[in-house]
Amino acid sequence: MTQVLRPVKDTFDGLSFPDLLVGLQSPDDAAVWKLDDTRDLVVTTDFFTPVVDDPYDYGAIAAANSLSDIYAMGGDPFLALNIAALPPDLPSEISSEIIRGGAEKAREAGAVIAGGHTVQDKEPKFGLVVLGFVPHGRSFTKSGARPGDRLFISKPFGFGVTTTALKREKAADKDVAEAVSWMKRLNRDASRLAREFNLTGVTDVTGYSLIGHGSEIGKSSRVRLQFSMEKIPFVEGALKYAAMGTFPGGAADNRLFFGENVTFTSTIDEPRQMLLFDPQTSGGLLMCVPEGSATDFTKRASDLGQPVWEIGCVIEGSGIVVE
Ligand code: CO
Ligand code: CO
Repeated sequence: MTQVLRPVKDTFDGLSFPDLLVGLQSPDDAAVWKLDDTRDLVVTTDFFTPVVDDPYDYGAIAAANSLSDIYAMGGDPFLALNIAALPPDLPSEISSEIIRGGAEKAREAGAVIAGGHTVQDKEPKFGLVVLGFVPHGRSFTKSGARPGDRLFISKPFGFGVTTTALKREKAADKDVAEAVSWMKRLNRDASRLAREFNLTGVTDVTGYSLIGHGSEIGKSSRVRLQFSMEKIPFVEGALKYAAMGTFPGGAADNRLFFGENVTFTSTIDEPRQMLLFDPQTSGGLLMCVPEGSATDFTKRASDLGQPVWEIGCVIEGSGIVVE
């Protein structure tokens, strides 16, 4: 994909856009544009095909996922537009449930959906364009990790392997329900927590998996990430489905692309390794917390009712090690 997007970099010279603070150089979760001395504008978009059967849940998950890139930059979303591709033969009750799921999620986030664009397509696609504000110069980036930081995650993993098991009619209802409730959850409180602690290194874990998004942080920050396998949280059915091999295609792509960056301890079996390459839809925030703040951070998270798991740390070097 980097190769395909090359013409964008070739066409726009960063020096000509001094107010574009994030976007043209190293990839991040969203673009950031300086508005004035107090505020920056954060802009993102995302859309995808259905991950679950229920149209309302699909809309809500797609919206939570789109909003997440604003939260991953430390912003507050305020305005959004729908992007929808809907099959002409899809009953209108179903289409409107998708849109309603997205609208109610945006409302929960404190944003308003003010229009959008819909086209006809064989396979449904839905998502949002989202605008948010962040105090000037305060956006989180992938380049903010420092050796000594503790790595925290705000949602468990295993959404891709669980939803693919659902597509292959191998998933238990309760496992799907668990993954759905996490995917619908906004990253708002995790983002607020990160802001309270003035964190700099933050991203959300989505399609590139923990290893892929972790690699981006490592590369942008010029550090090495060390994960502890036994501390990484998964949804209940994840390991069972991993053993069955119900991974989405993206998991193998992620392994191909990011695999050579990672060293696994020999005791970590194949299904567990693959779980770390599992693409996540609407995954949690991966946050780099300075060592001295880690205890207060965990305590404040619990006060806010925001689950967090400490899953590793940042060390000097490059690449990723999983022990
Ligand atoms: Co992101
Ligand atoms: Co995104």
